[in-house]
Amino acid sequence: MNNVIKFLFHPFFRKYHDLLSRVSALETAVDCLINSPKWVESEEVGFNGQRHRKIIFLSLLKAFNFDAIVETGTYIGDTTGYMAKISGLPVYTCELNTRFFSLAKMRLRGIPNITFALSDSRPFLKHMSGTDIVNNRTFFYLDAHQYKKYPLREELEIICSGWKNFVIMIDDFWFLMTTDMDMTIIARGKHYP
Ligand SMILES: C[S@@+](CC[C@H](N)C(=O)[O-])C[C@H]1O[C@@H](n2cnc3c(N)ncnc32)[C@H](O)[C@@H]1O
Repeated sequence: MNNVIKFLFHPFFRKYHDLLSRVSALETAVDCLINSPKWVESEEVGFNGQRHRKIIFLSLLKAFNFDAIVETGTYIGDTTGYMAKISGLPVYTCELNTRFFSLAKMRLRGIPNITFALSDSRPFLKHMSGTDIVNNRTFFYLDAHQYKKYPLREELEIICSGWKNFVIMIDDFWFLMTTDMDMTIIARGKHYP
């Protein structure tokens, strides 16, 4: 019975869910325009304000002497700005949502070492893997995961078959593993089907 109800109402719930995420994205954009129209450096800005994640990032920067940084999922550009400012490296970032893309560009327009792309992360990475950037020692920050279909598995495939020297940091790794069950990942010595 439950399954019949689920089947009948599935299209309705889906539309409702889509609507909720669009309203939430609009609210974020409006809040950002009102409260934070320009990116400003602060402890709370970048890597969701997580001090430890910033420490890991800084340690990696120091240890690997990267040439470039690539981010998937710009959102409003908080981490993009942080990585660009603190590293001084060229930062390439992509965003699927037009409003967030424009908002991030507007907020970060004073920082010259950022290249923005309005694109799904998969074609974006594919395109980059056909350029000279593929020869760079690259730090990847994979954070494109707002919508139903997570691109992470394909992002990893494109990076691993293109680049030779790279480090990947994945945001919300455990959450993604539990929601994308067909992904096979080896982590911390364990094998997750
Ligand atoms: C969690 S937010 C990114 C936060 C940002 N990296 C930061 O640290 O401030 C995820 C973003 O990824 C974007 N996104 C979702 N799927 C995407 C895809 N396939 N390609 C590019 N961007 C995507 C969403 O629109 C959203 O803005």
